[in-house]
Amino acid sequence: MAESFIISTGTKQQQYELLIAQFEAVLDEEAGQIANMANMCAMLKEQFNWLWVGFYLVQENELVVGPYQGPLACTRIQRGKGVCGKSWQSGKPLIVPDVNQFSGHIACSSLSQSEIVIPLSKEGIIVAVFDADAETRSCFDEVDLLYLERLLCLL
Ligand code: SME
Repeated sequence: MAESFIISTGTKQQQYELLIAQFEAVLDEEAGQIANMANMCAMLKEQFNWLWVGFYLVQENELVVGPYQGPLACTRIQRGKGVCGKSWQSGKPLIVPDVNQFSGHIACSSLSQSEIVIPLSKEGIIVAVFDADAETRSCFDEVDLLYLERLLCLL
């Protein structure tokens, strides 16, 4: 299997392109979604050195923490609460340049300054949200959203 991960040093777009190619190689050898989510988190954390990257899985009408990399996180999030719960409720991605300005933000780590959350749907139903946190403000933009959505579509 593709057990070694090559870190790219190009533009953000180039970094994502190489990461996606390597993630596709991982997917070629594994069908399990939890395993693939875990490997996706590991690759993104290594490439971009974000504070936290992971998934919250929809379970019995709340979000429960799933595969992730980073500091210990809140285990359960209610629908409509925090950035994750709001993204789940609206079905839309959220880019938060400054978490301190986001009403209701749940601070699992005081180090987090910016965040991106993207819902993951299967057959029209949201089954999980992807969440990434960074220690710098305005870390995430439309380029991240585009490429992360591409990655999530592969799952
Ligand atoms: N900040 C998130 C909570 C999850 S952690 O960042 C890992 C939120 O407001 O929903």
